[in-house]
Amino acid sequence: MPAILTPVKTREDVLFEDSLRPQKFDDFIGQDNIKTNLKIFIQAARKRGEHLDHVLLYGPPGLGKTSLAYLISKELGVGIKPTSGPVIEKAGDLSAILTSLQDKEVLFIDEIHRLHPSLEEILYSAMEDFSLDVIIGQGPGARSHKLRIKRFTLVGATTRAGRITAPLRSRFGIVHRLDYYRVEDLKKIIMRSASILGVKVEDSGAEEIAKRARGTPRIANRLLRRVRDFAEVKGDGQIDARIARRALDQMEVDVLGLDDVDRKILMTIMENFGGGPVGINTIAAAIDEEKDTIESIYEPYLMRLGFLERTLRGRKLTAKAYEHLGFKPPANQKKLF
Ligand SMILES: Nc1ncnc2c1ncn2[C@@H]1O[C@H](COP(=O)(O)OP(=O)(O)OP(=O)(O)O)[C@@H](O)[C@H]1O
Ligand SMILES: [Mg+2]
Repeated sequence: MPAILTPVKTREDVLFEDSLRPQKFDDFIGQDNIKTNLKIFIQAARKRGEHLDHVLLYGPPGLGKTSLAYLISKELGVGIKPTSGPVIEKAGDLSAILTSLQDKEVLFIDEIHRLHPSLEEILYSAMEDFSLDVIIGQGPGARSHKLRIKRFTLVGATTRAGRITAPLRSRFGIVHRLDYYRVEDLKKIIMRSASILGVKVEDSGAEEIAKRARGTPRIANRLLRRVRDFAEVKGDGQIDARIARRALDQMEVDVLGLDDVDRKILMTIMENFGGGPVGINTIAAAIDEEKDTIESIYEPYLMRLGFLERTLRGRKLTAKAYEHLGFKPPANQKKLF
């Protein structure tokens, strides 16, 4: 995927994400259902003077999981300790983090699906009983001792909900899936970012960028920065629909935000597998891409566009996909639409 359309954080994104990150719930646009629920749970916890129940956030990269974790701690009026699954190597690392938590604080574990399985047990008793089992002494005289830790809220984030074990998942009281954003919401995000960056964007310009941003705020913000460069060099710095279209076309960003790999996936299923159904492993081998990348990045967006269907026997192209590629759908596909 050309870097410009990847939902994964790039080095350049890092420079901007802090300044563009929503600072309060009202700045966090879209995902209304999640926001409404979280606000209620947070209010209730505050009213009772208790910690918030553990929260699991999942969904494709760049949709706002980290942003929400920070907003939760802000709204609760407590601190946040951020870490991530692969960073925690040993039991001692995890215990040290858990014992350092303050009352009602948020522990944010990003990429929680990559936490070492042997550490999950420790997390269970911490999440459930707010205690750690520590072994005191050595050899036959060693005794297990329960060490109390502060009541805290674990916020876990993952792009791969399927990778989380059932016992871990069951210990989260609040579980939310973030979904791709609607064009209207991305437009609002672009407008907000533009005002922070001091760029003038017309409504039509924001819309053009929003449509091609793959439903992903991170990509929308990145496209905005690139289009701004274009507008400054080729125009007067103002972004209208014409400038946005020219810039995005020149960067080979398709009108639906599709890129080469998306097209390769669709064409391969159509040309080599008669439109499917075909298994994900076969597709991955045919186009020489990682299965993981296809499953976590490409497939969800193609399904969201209604181009790909998941059946028990594999992935299948829809009539809509044939039409976008400029082909006639096979007769048996037509009745679907
Ligand atoms: N709802 C939103 N409203 C406004 N801006 C948003 C929203 N969601 C995300 N963003 C913007 O997109 C950027 C990326 O979001 P964030 O880092 O929270 O995504 P993520 O889901 O944690 O991604 P990853 O899976 O890569 O960790 C943020 O810096 C923020 O500027
Ligand atoms: Mg994140």
